[in-house]
Amino acid sequence: MTADVLVVAPILTRQMTQLEATYRLHRLDRAADRDAFLAEVGDRIEAIVTTGTAGASADVMGRLPNLKVVGCMAVGVDAVDLPYARSRGIAVTNTPDVLNDCVADTAMGLLIASMRKLVLSDRYVRDGSWVAKGPMPLTTSLRGKTLGILGLGRIGMAIARRAEPFGLTIVYHTRRKRDDVAYPWYADLVAMARDVDILLAILPGGPETRRIVSREVIEALGPTGTFVNVARGSVCDEPALIEALASGKLGAAALDVFEDEPRVPDALIRMDNVVLAPHVGSATVETRDAMSQLVVDNLAAHFAGRPLLTPV
Ligand code: GLV
Repeated sequence: MTADVLVVAPILTRQMTQLEATYRLHRLDRAADRDAFLAEVGDRIEAIVTTGTAGASADVMGRLPNLKVVGCMAVGVDAVDLPYARSRGIAVTNTPDVLNDCVADTAMGLLIASMRKLVLSDRYVRDGSWVAKGPMPLTTSLRGKTLGILGLGRIGMAIARRAEPFGLTIVYHTRRKRDDVAYPWYADLVAMARDVDILLAILPGGPETRRIVSREVIEALGPTGTFVNVARGSVCDEPALIEALASGKLGAAALDVFEDEPRVPDALIRMDNVVLAPHVGSATVETRDAMSQLVVDNLAAHFAGRPLLTPV
């Protein structure tokens, strides 16, 4: 029997086509009246397809009494209400590993763009400053600096491996020390922020890590420090970050994620010491294709009664 699947947010077209061929899809993302739509189809839905940003709230899942599985196209599932899903025995799948390289590439790109002022360099050429003012002011070398990675998981490790050949010394903070890596571990994030030149966040979002990059951490990083965030906006105290960047208490930031995406505070948009990206860590054709396929394959496994490929 053809199963009914609720699309909270679509995945890539190639995989949407596969889903359309296999299931009866119900497009919540296109519904004019979401409440009426859910009231009409809710009873039939057995699976959700969603993205890391759209997630799956307890409110939506609560209207789907026969929901069994949520396929989320992201490694970070903080927008899926996991405690609620667990309480009902709803399985949740994510898309780990396939995005490690692209997110790590983005992280390094942002780090280099910030320290070497690549975005400002581009503007310097385009707006005629090179001709009018002569050479651009010098920037900061990566070699010899210390990079503190906040969250040394699979992506954090991919970043560390990329950072080493740039001459960066790697240290890290995680809740528990890893036995399998030689990088120095800091039990205390403020202490690490004090000792490093760059703090790079790549840890899961959610209530446990909310604003872990606090005012104290930001100020410990200091006037010559750089903060890179490729995790979630929620892991950083954004108002404190803005204040520190504006007052010179923090040197610079490179941000791929924000508290209220896609809205980015004007203050950040106006700052020259900030590099901004619209949450594109994993956003390549190849990686999004692999992520989308993993969503489809997890659903297929579920409906075939096989073990899920990447359960959370
Ligand atoms: C992206 O932010 C992801 O969690 O995959």
